[in-house]
Amino acid sequence: MAGPVITQQKIMDHVLRLGELYPPIPLGSVDRTVKNPAEVSRRFGHVLDYLARVELEVDRNVLELLVLLPDVEEVDRVFYADVWQPQEIQHGLILDRLQTDLGQPPAEPVLEVSMKMKILGALSHLRPIQDITRLLYYLTGASTERQAVIAYNSFTKGLVEMGEDAIAKTIVGPIKQQEPGHFAFYKMSATGLVQSGRLKPWQMYLARQLRSLSYNLAGTNAMERYKTQMGGLMHTMGFDADLHAYAREVGRLEAKLLWAHRQGLEFPQYVLKALRESVELYAEKGLGAATA
Ligand SMILES: [Fe+2]
Ligand SMILES: [Fe+2]
Repeated sequence: MAGPVITQQKIMDHVLRLGELYPPIPLGSVDRTVKNPAEVSRRFGHVLDYLARVELEVDRNVLELLVLLPDVEEVDRVFYADVWQPQEIQHGLILDRLQTDLGQPPAEPVLEVSMKMKILGALSHLRPIQDITRLLYYLTGASTERQAVIAYNSFTKGLVEMGEDAIAKTIVGPIKQQEPGHFAFYKMSATGLVQSGRLKPWQMYLARQLRSLSYNLAGTNAMERYKTQMGGLMHTMGFDADLHAYAREVGRLEAKLLWAHRQGLEFPQYVLKALRESVELYAEKGLGAATA
């Protein structure tokens, strides 16, 4: 594979740098002044709830990581324990506080590890399987963080347009700044693993099959109600106007790493399929049913 060789040391340097550059955002540091709470809630209330919930689900994501990767490597451990979890949980707590300020109910994160994960975790005690789950874990992380970067960019813009500078500058802006480093970690980790040549062709094949079967958009937890809400978020952010463009943004990395043999593939079909499903569910059901 082309590109510079990504060593564990390089990834560790990245992780340590993130830790130094971006301490978790203290709740006390943000300015929760909202000029027009009713309008922010009307326009972005469901987005805020979705993002707060997904961020708060980081604690489940950590449990999943421990289930999926019984022999977690030091660099992964330092990332999730010292950088990722402490940052994400603050994102969740701050966004949730903001949504309750607006008079909305607090988010209800799903904190239970699913049976599917537990089964995959049990299989991961076999080293060759664990290497596959490791790759899938990094790809999921990369896809999720990329979606977060795009969502927070759009959210910041929307709030600035509304003149809600305080929360745009002190809440969504600083959160947005921390997401690209997470994406970079997962991207480097996935790329490094594929580059290492440790995965045999049958493992890459199985990784592709599992990924095709299990791909989910960020925070949908394979549940219809969250898929519908994701459709609502995409609609509010305008991502539904060009699904191919959005699929390219989210699916580019795995097209390159997992489907390298399909030259010129811009994104895997399952990414577009998941996006379409969310958009269609939202068109059909709207958010009333999704939040009920
Ligand atoms: Fe986050
Ligand atoms: Fe993140």
